[in-house]
Amino acid sequence: MSKGTLYHVVCAAPATASAHEFVSLAQGSGWDVRVIATPLGARFADIDRLSELTGDQVRSEFRLPGDEPGLPSADAVVVAPATFNTINKWAAGIADTFAVSLLCELTGFGVPILAVPMLKDALARHVAFARSIEVLKSMGIRVQFDPLAPPGARMPPWPQVLDEVHTVTRA
Ligand SMILES: Cc1cc2nc3c(=O)[nH]c(=O)nc-3n(C[C@H](O)[C@H](O)[C@H](O)COP(=O)(O)O)c2cc1C
Repeated sequence: MSKGTLYHVVCAAPATASAHEFVSLAQGSGWDVRVIATPLGARFADIDRLSELTGDQVRSEFRLPGDEPGLPSADAVVVAPATFNTINKWAAGIADTFAVSLLCELTGFGVPILAVPMLKDALARHVAFARSIEVLKSMGIRVQFDPLAPPGARMPPWPQVLDEVHTVTRA
């Protein structure tokens, strides 16, 4: 049974290279997945594979009037991997990429959103990160992040990310 449309937002961090694994898992559990990449995130992604899997282009740019059709509306969103940069911009409302602009807007609409940060210890200790996480949580965003996880295991495996999506959406 279809669970609806899941936007998968990918940022410029290594886990984006395996985002197709998450897309396949999510599709297998009934989601219609669309991928949105930050401009630099698109360079980490296997764009052809993601487009083939989802049957849609990977969106990175703002759509201007007259451009190709937009995305179907989202029932849920997962931002994984979520970079330090995108987390901080999203919390601060700096909508200078299509991905962050969309996240800010969908936060305002109250769409269920899961953020899965992937970042180095040094960046995780930056005061801006803790502040941004608190701001996002205060707006209802679910954050899947274990600060005590060993370096290199900060980003949970894709099946755990999908389980968390289902917790957030109660799907
Ligand atoms: C090879 C490489 C790996 C990177 N890994 C990370 C990472 O794991 N987490 C992170 O927050 N930034 C990482 N960065 C830095 C981000 O790519 C950079 O801050 C970028 O501006 C993020 O853009 P975005 O948030 O628009 O995707 C990495 C950069 C490179 C070149």
